[in-house]
Amino acid sequence: MTNKGRRYGMKIGFVGWRGMVGSVLRERMHEEGDFEYLPDRIFFSTSNVGSQGPPVAGEQPLEDANSITALRKCDIIVTCQGSEWTSRTYPQLRKRGWKGIWLDTASALRMEKNSVIVLDPLNREMIKEGLKSGIKTFVGGNCTVSLMLMACHGLFKKNLVEWINSDTYQAASGAGARYMQELIKQMVSISEVSNPVADALELDRAVIERLRSPDFPTESFGVPLACSLIPWIDRAVKAGQMGQTKEEWKGFAEANKILGTKTPIPIGGICVRIGAMRCHSQALLIKLKNDIPLNEITKIIADANEWVRVVPNKEETTIDQLTPGAVSGTLTIAIGRLHKARMGSTYLRAFTVGDQLLWGAAEPIRRALRIILGTL
Ligand code: HSE
Repeated sequence: MTNKGRRYGMKIGFVGWRGMVGSVLRERMHEEGDFEYLPDRIFFSTSNVGSQGPPVAGEQPLEDANSITALRKCDIIVTCQGSEWTSRTYPQLRKRGWKGIWLDTASALRMEKNSVIVLDPLNREMIKEGLKSGIKTFVGGNCTVSLMLMACHGLFKKNLVEWINSDTYQAASGAGARYMQELIKQMVSISEVSNPVADALELDRAVIERLRSPDFPTESFGVPLACSLIPWIDRAVKAGQMGQTKEEWKGFAEANKILGTKTPIPIGGICVRIGAMRCHSQALLIKLKNDIPLNEITKIIADANEWVRVVPNKEETTIDQLTPGAVSGTLTIAIGRLHKARMGSTYLRAFTVGDQLLWGAAEPIRRALRIILGTL
């Protein structure tokens, strides 16, 4: 513990630190030495109260995440526990007069009037203004939204976007850890019946038969994802919302909240689950307000933040750098396939890939905590 750390003297509570996003968050905090700034930390659990926490908790046993009295001791609560716990706990805490800062990866409070969706490369000022004006609820954005905004940051900064269509290719991790496991179980099940040197049509018949077999593991997804895809993510939004899923609706609602637009930018597209593990990809069609040469657009995108990397629109670079396989586990926001569409010179095509557990979930929260503490 450094003197720098002691100076802050705030009690920070961590909830949902064991899950996938919580684990990635702790890993990143270790890598960046963030725990130095948080000497007074409390780890909570919904199921293992009194047991040993993660190494960074030291000797302190886990406290009860369902105890409002225990939670109230914290000045800041960082939660990756999920919307169900947030919806149950947050109102009770506030009702009991808790005035601390709530920092959440779950979606439950994102669209509340008194919350800020954090994505500091784009809205650092909004976060700082929020803190100054007494906002106490900060929430990470939907992964697809954050990754798209990071990739197109330069275009938003220069106010060049009239509208965006984003068709997504979303990884299993976005649905949760057990979905990733099920994807692999499905692949294993397929491999049991597959003889890769068999005649291709014979192989296809064997695979389809396996996908349609009642024994095929589909408890989580409900249907095969391996050797297939699912063009539906989350539930349908209410009637009157144009037949969209909630994931698609978030693309519009959350992105505009993060950008603080007065006149909302139309953003739409079809969200599709594919068999990648933890990187979300998006095929973008962007209507620009002005006809700008491609080399200028490339520079605007590339210069916007330190994580975005423009991949030249060539076969070798694209297949080498613009894939979930290449980007997974990194903070890079890859964007490539940049070209003008046939519809006209103000229509831009692009493809982007980002790790949905890093910039899509943990990283904006990690950085927001540092901003709240005044150390970033
Ligand atoms: N809802 C996203 C998905 C993940 O299902 O991929 C997190 O925002």
